[in-house]
This record gives sequence, C-alpha cells and structure tokens, in this order.
Amino acid sequence: MNRLEKLLSQMSIHDKIGQLTQYNAALYTKTTAEITGPKAKLGLTDEDLAAAGSILNFASVQEMKDIQDKHLQNDPNKIPMSFMMDVIHGYRTIFPIPLGLGCSFDPEIAEECSRVAAREASASGVQVTFTPMVDYVRDARWGRVMETCGEEPLVTGALAAAQIRGFHGDGMEKPGNLATCVKHYAGYGGAEAGRDYNLVEVSERELREYYLPGYKACLDAGAPMVMPSFNSLNGIPSIANPMLMQKILRQEWGFDGVVISDYNAIGELLPHGVAADQKEAAKLAFENTCDIEMCSSGYFHHLEALIKEGIFTEEQLDAAVMRVLKFKDQLGLFDDPYHGADAELAERLFLCDEHRAVVKKAAAESAVLLKNDGLLPLSEKLNKVAVIGPFADNHGINGFWSCNGKDEDTTTVLQGVTALLGDDKVVTAVGCGNLWDDNDTAGFAEAVAAAKEADAVILCLGEPQNYSGEGNCRTDLRLPGMQEELAKQVIAANPNTAVVLFNGRPLDVSLLHKIAPAILTMWFPGTEGGNAAAELIFGKRNPCGKLTMSFPHNVGQCPIYYNHPNTGRPRWRSQPDHRGYASDYIDCATLPLYSFGYGLSYSNFQYSDLILSSREMTMDSNIQVSVKVRNDSDRAGKEVVQLYMRDLVGSVVRPVQQLIAFEKISLEPGEEKTVSFTVTEEMLRFYDMEGRHISEKGDFTLMIGHADHFVLTEKFQLV
Ligand code: GLC
Repeated sequence: MNRLEKLLSQMSIHDKIGQLTQYNAALYTKTTAEITGPKAKLGLTDEDLAAAGSILNFASVQEMKDIQDKHLQNDPNKIPMSFMMDVIHGYRTIFPIPLGLGCSFDPEIAEECSRVAAREASASGVQVTFTPMVDYVRDARWGRVMETCGEEPLVTGALAAAQIRGFHGDGMEKPGNLATCVKHYAGYGGAEAGRDYNLVEVSERELREYYLPGYKACLDAGAPMVMPSFNSLNGIPSIANPMLMQKILRQEWGFDGVVISDYNAIGELLPHGVAADQKEAAKLAFENTCDIEMCSSGYFHHLEALIKEGIFTEEQLDAAVMRVLKFKDQLGLFDDPYHGADAELAERLFLCDEHRAVVKKAAAESAVLLKNDGLLPLSEKLNKVAVIGPFADNHGINGFWSCNGKDEDTTTVLQGVTALLGDDKVVTAVGCGNLWDDNDTAGFAEAVAAAKEADAVILCLGEPQNYSGEGNCRTDLRLPGMQEELAKQVIAANPNTAVVLFNGRPLDVSLLHKIAPAILTMWFPGTEGGNAAAELIFGKRNPCGKLTMSFPHNVGQCPIYYNHPNTGRPRWRSQPDHRGYASDYIDCATLPLYSFGYGLSYSNFQYSDLILSSREMTMDSNIQVSVKVRNDSDRAGKEVVQLYMRDLVGSVVRPVQQLIAFEKISLEPGEEKTVSFTVTEEMLRFYDMEGRHISEKGDFTLMIGHADHFVLTEKFQLV
C-alpha cells in the first residue's frame, strides 16, 4: 500500500467527500455577517468547510497560509488544501487577452507570457490556474470570445499548448510553476445567438471537427485538470453529459486526471431542468466523473446518502478521491503546502522591467493593422499630434479577466505617445467620455479643435472592458456611445487620423473602414498597451498580428467564420452582378469585412515559387511544400506564412479553406526566405458521417495567403 492508499484507508467518508469540494476563500476569512449569504445558502457546517479539499480565490499569500495552517492543524489526515485561481492573461503584469495574443500566431510569445504569469502567481500562493480556455468560437456577440484564440482549432491548440508549457515550466510541483486546467469542456463557444450560458446544439461530427480538438491538444500537452462547461450540449448540460464526460473524455481519450465543475455548475442542473433537486444533481455529476464540486454543496449534502443507498460504491468515491490526492501529490503539496509562496518575491516580480518587456512585446505582436492608406507609421518629427477619444488616456485596457492586474498599472496611449514625442508636441481631448450615454457630445468641440491644430490625430476608440468577458454579450457590435459620430467629426477636421481600437471581440467597424485612413486594433493589450500602441504608430515596431477571428460587416452576419462550406449556391463565386437565388444577403456582403489570417504590415511581403515535391500523395507519403517570401520594403518585419488547403470533393461537405500550417518569420529589408512545410495525409483528415477521422482520395488545392485572399495556389491528389 503506497502513501496515498494508506492515507485513503484512514479517511472517513466525510473526509473523502471533503476532498471533492472547493469553496471561495471568503467563506474562511470574512466575518460571519459578511458571508451569511453564501454560507447559509450553501448550508455548509464549519466541519464541512474545515474538510474542504481546495480553495478558490484568495487575497494574499498570508491569507493562503492562514487558511492552510488552520486547515492542517484541524485535519486528522494532514492533507493540504490546494489553492486555485483564474490566471488568464497575467497575474499582476498583464498581457493581451487571449483573442489578441492568438493574433501573434506566436506560441513562443504565449509561452513567455505564461512564464511571467506563473512566476507572479506562484509567488503569490496560486498553485492551479483555470487556464487555457480553448472554446471554439464563431460568434462575436458572445462576450467570452475575448478569452479564446478564435475560429481555427489549429491556432487555438498551438497557443494553448504553449501556455501549458509556460505554466508548467520545469515541473508543476516547483515554485514558480502552476498546474493548468483546460476549459470549458465542451462546446461553450457555440452558445446559440451568442448569448452566454445558452444552449449548444451541434452535431457530433461538427463537435469533433471543430470544438473538441482544442481540449484534446491541451490534454496531449499535459493539462492535469478539466473543467466542464455550463452549457447544455445537445440537450444535456456538459457536467452531466455521458457522451462528453464518459465516452469521450474518460474512455476514448483515457483522461484519468481531475475534473472540476465550473462555479456552481452542479447546482445549475436544477435551473437547467435536468435535476429535480440537489441530490439528483449530485448524482448526475458524480456518475459523470466530476471529481471536485466548485462552490455548491450537493456532494457534502448527498454523496454519503447516495453511497449508503447503493447508488454509488465507496470504491467509486475512493477512485475520485485518489485522483485528487494524486493531483495534490503531483503539485508537491505534501512536501510543501505553501508551494513556495513568497510575498516578498511576488512584490519584486510584479511589474518588473523584465516582465514589462515581455508583455509589451506581446501587446505589440498581438495588435492587428486592419487598414493603412499610407498614413502610418507617423513621423516623430511631426510638430503637433492630437491623442483624442475615450481611450486616449484610459487605463481600462487590461481586459475583463485580468486577475490581480490593476488598471492604474497600465500605460495609456497618451502616456506612450508623450513618452515618445514629449509633452510640448502632444495635445489631447476625450471627445465623448460616457460610452453608456448615446448623447454625450459635450467634448466634441474640444476634440475637433485639438484635431484641427494637429499635424496628425491618434483617435482612440473602443468598447469598455466590461462589454466583453463572462456574461457580457452584445447584440450590437458597433462602437458604443457617440464614438462613431466623434470619428466622423474628428476625421472631417483632420483627415490624417489613425484610429486605435480597444476591443474584446471583433467589432462592426464598417463605418471606420470607410472614413479612417488607418485602423489598428490593440484588443485589450494589458499593462504596456499604451507604450506598445505608441511604438507601433510611430514605427518603432512593425505590426505583424493576423486575425484569428473574422470581423463581420455587421452583427447580422454572425456567426461568421472562414472555414465554412461552399453551399450549393455560393454567392461570391457566381457572376459579380448576380442577384438573388444565391447564398448571400440583399443588404450586405457575404464575406467578412476582415477575414481570418488578415493583418497588414509596414513592410511589403511578396510571395513566389510555391513548389510541391510531388503532385501525388499516398496514404503513407508526404508532400514537401516550399514558398519564397521576400520583404520588398525598407523596413524589417515579421510575416505569418499561412498554408491552407481545400478538399475539393468529400463524402461530407468540406470547408472552402482550412489552415493546415503556419510559420512566423522575420525578414530584413530586401531579404528573401524559403519557408517549407510538410503536408501529411493526417492533415487532410476530417470526421465523416460515421464519426471516423479519415482522409479520402481525390483532388486537393494548397493555397498561400490568408482566408478569402490567396496569392498562390497549387493542386495535388491523394491517391
Ligand atoms: C467562472 C468561469 C470559469 C472560471 C470559474 C472560477 O464562472 O466560467 O471560467 O474558471 O468561474 O472562477
């Protein structure tokens, strides 16, 4: 009998159930008066709380230590609690939201950023982060697109695996590293109408093709924990869904790690209407191998009875507890219950120069230049620059899930531009400050005056950071408040206006696309966002981000995504003047305003010589593909070389384009590089009607460029 088995053998049923629960630190630290609500509502006793196995969110290292010390003094089994938190895109030094970071197409940057977050969070007492979130998305109305890497599973998987490497470091048991938890399994991003927590109805084929690969990539990268999603999937909430939790996760994928519910997700089985009471909810979750119940009390209240009634065996309980004990052992908690937490180290790490440099580079490489008529980069020799708009000097650019990041830590665009040019060359005006007020034009006159006196204008617009994120969905993707009117008046006053966007989702910027000579989206860039924006605008850095999520012309196009089928009546491939009886709209284009993989640079990259080693591939041979890329400009830059394919005929409809490989390269002025890819039969596979992951012989096209816009194509056959 090993140490953990011995431990298990001496635990009471109540002790065991305790290991399968997680509660908010506030229940342990606030006065009774402050927490009578949740505690009373949860119906938990002090014995329950003392026996709980893990803690969600806590305020400080000292608080974590106090809770841990008190627990270990009282726990007869001396099993340390584990401490978990949502360290999504930084702990205190914040990097871009994942939807932005994905646009860097740079797993190395993602790993570097996760290392920064891991060091700061681990020193602060965090042992497990509920990251990466890899939900597949197609609908910009959904607030949580900001947490994702968009509409291509290949990019999502690559960036998420890099995050896991970054967080795990040289071992999740070591100080400075965290364990990860992949979420939200599964299909959460497919919420109908882009409304959070709404139902998801998707075929198993579509689920396997697009929604599941991101989670699987994380498990393959070593994520030790999975969090099921709130949503019902094809009629059954994920946490109680046998296909998801038993057939795919535990059996097909062989995952034997810990499953933790989302916040009160077991309790939500009642409003979902699949459990009549808390006992039935606990039964559904436990039988679908949910190991830890987060912030609800079904397991404490009913699991023992369910065992006594013979619904479950104590062996099943032991199996779940053993998964949790093994996880704690993997974290090294039995040797160091504090996991190396060190408040002084944390303070030294927060916002240090090294971390600022990492997140500034990430912010710069996540930014996407959407339009540039030649206005950018601006010259530093300009006499007067106006930085205008509600985001000109706005510290609210960390994004929705910024953990312990503080808005006041961020650098604003005004600060960044002033640092570059000097006070005397910069004027500023807010224009419209209250984005909830559709009549706030009080600042327009000052803004127009500032625009008129300047040689160029940096117009900083966007959506407030709480317009995206959990529960924050929109039915209108335009700039809130009077920002569009402000843009019209400022650009009329000074055509040399570059728009800088701060956004947690693809926005409807179709008006700006018409009237602004340049548009740069920073997403929510985090701590160094203002400096990164200034360096991009003045050409200290060269934009290189590429969209991982399509920008629609307007919300009516949602959901819209690049890897779509052709339909029997493709509009954009019929005669240009063709109207009606095609898969299109009478009042809007069919393609997005900006497509997946799109992003401009100050350099000019020219592609040539797309060469295949063969025009025939067999089931066990590969094709070597090479393409030349030349930087036909006087400015060094980075380019994401994207290789797409199209399977021209399949037993099911196949997308008109699918990214199968990408490589980010740097090119000096005039430099030319040859980029090579290996195309394998595995890359051509898809899920057929029987759910088999197969490739089919036939004709394929390879394309170089970005979605909807290819510059080189070649054909080959799988024979
Ligand atoms: C939230 C989110 C989930 C998060 C959890 C713990 O409701 O859905 O992403 O990890 O609760 O904070």
